[in-house]
Amino acid sequence: MTEMKFDEKTISNAIHTKWAGKTVHFAEEVDSTNEWAKKLGKDGAEHGTLAVADYQSAGKGRLGRRWTAPSGSCITMSVLLRPDFEPQYAPMLTVVMGLSVAQAAQKMGVETSIKWPNDVVVSRKKICGILTEMSVEEGKIRYVVIGVGINVNLDTIPEGLEDKATSLYLETGKKFDRNEIAAYAMEAFENNYERFIKTCDLSFLQEDYNRMLANFGQPVRVLDPIAPYEGVACGIDERGGLIVEKKDGTRICVSAGEVSVRGLYSYV
Ligand code: BTN
Repeated sequence: MTEMKFDEKTISNAIHTKWAGKTVHFAEEVDSTNEWAKKLGKDGAEHGTLAVADYQSAGKGRLGRRWTAPSGSCITMSVLLRPDFEPQYAPMLTVVMGLSVAQAAQKMGVETSIKWPNDVVVSRKKICGILTEMSVEEGKIRYVVIGVGINVNLDTIPEGLEDKATSLYLETGKKFDRNEIAAYAMEAFENNYERFIKTCDLSFLQEDYNRMLANFGQPVRVLDPIAPYEGVACGIDERGGLIVEKKDGTRICVSAGEVSVRGLYSYV
């Protein structure tokens, strides 16, 4: 496949939504699309504004880590939201976006699953990471930025990450159009977001999510910093917590952001 253009116009033309990605800002290079979207947020940009870059010189991952992706092969984008709901509900948007990206990849014909809470995985390796940031003023959300990094046509995985990370290209042998994937993700997200704000919980997606959960019914290790334990993953509850059943039959709901969960034998 000849490499498709990836710029403001081609991305915009591919997106068919009411508000998600209706306005697209594109740069060949920025520090971080999350930082860029936050600036746009401070400058009054509207709900749904999307900042996309071909390359990030200082991409951010969770827990203060770096997120690196070479130019020409990945999607690095951040969507700006201006929700009316209370700040406490915002972290669930990360799960909403995770499911949306997984659905977008499915639509491209790729069998995807989700590693709780929101890593999108193919063949038990990560293809997408999500970083949500929020600005609150006087107890009200000023804006939320959800940053999405998708390994699309990446042909080599950085040393040391071979067991954990992959790309759509490496798993399928096919090159994908980044415009199309970004558009499908925005379309799925708009639809899921509109359902989310009706209840401010994840009950509407629990079934779809649990069907895609890579660890569903499998043994996991909960990396509780005080007392790690093992159990079987039984899906998420309506707030996005992972329900883990211990050997003695007790069920614990693990909160995202507080502890990590690993497969017993690998990253997933
Ligand atoms: C993770 O650690 O899994 C989250 C990674 C999030 C990366 C994306 S790439 C686009 C956006 N801009 C950033 O600086 N980070 C997010």
